[in-house]
Amino acid sequence: MSNNIILVGMPASGKTTIGNLLSEKLPEYTFLDTDSLIEKTQGMSISDIFKKFSEDYFRKLEYETIQMVCSGGKNKIVSIGGGAFENPINRATLLKFGKVFYLKSDLDILYYRISKDSSRPLLQNENPKQILENLLKKREENYKKAHYTVDTSCLSEDEIVRFILNAANT
Ligand code: S3P
Repeated sequence: MSNNIILVGMPASGKTTIGNLLSEKLPEYTFLDTDSLIEKTQGMSISDIFKKFSEDYFRKLEYETIQMVCSGGKNKIVSIGGGAFENPINRATLLKFGKVFYLKSDLDILYYRISKDSSRPLLQNENPKQILENLLKKREENYKKAHYTVDTSCLSEDEIVRFILNAANT
């Protein structure tokens, strides 16, 4: 396995924030966020992709982007959308490509962060907290297949970054 670092977890679990902090500590690494890559290549927001096409269409783009990002190379930090680790092929690809860290957060913390952000299509619903809870319950089993689970609820951003750097042996 190469030295790549992969961040998985629910929406608002801090993948992008931690990815950016890690890349500050690891200047030789490139940080790639699959949602941002999809938005760039499609020229539209994830939210618009869901609206204009469908979730299935987005999942196909997500799958292709993960295959492309993981097609080779080292010194990469990769963060993926919250639902991407549900697909067994994505999971196998990412687990082989580098060390996978699940950023685990409490439902209340996730909900608090998400309630201030309207850009997440799956949660644009009457009861976003219930949706979030159902998604978390459904996805947790697969998230736990990551090489490491980092319980972020009681850690500062610095501590999370330090944990990942140590575990990744960088
Ligand atoms: C999704 C999470 C989003 C984005 C898409 C679907 C999900 O990414 O990929 O809206 O299924 O949980 P974040 O986890 O970065 O919000």
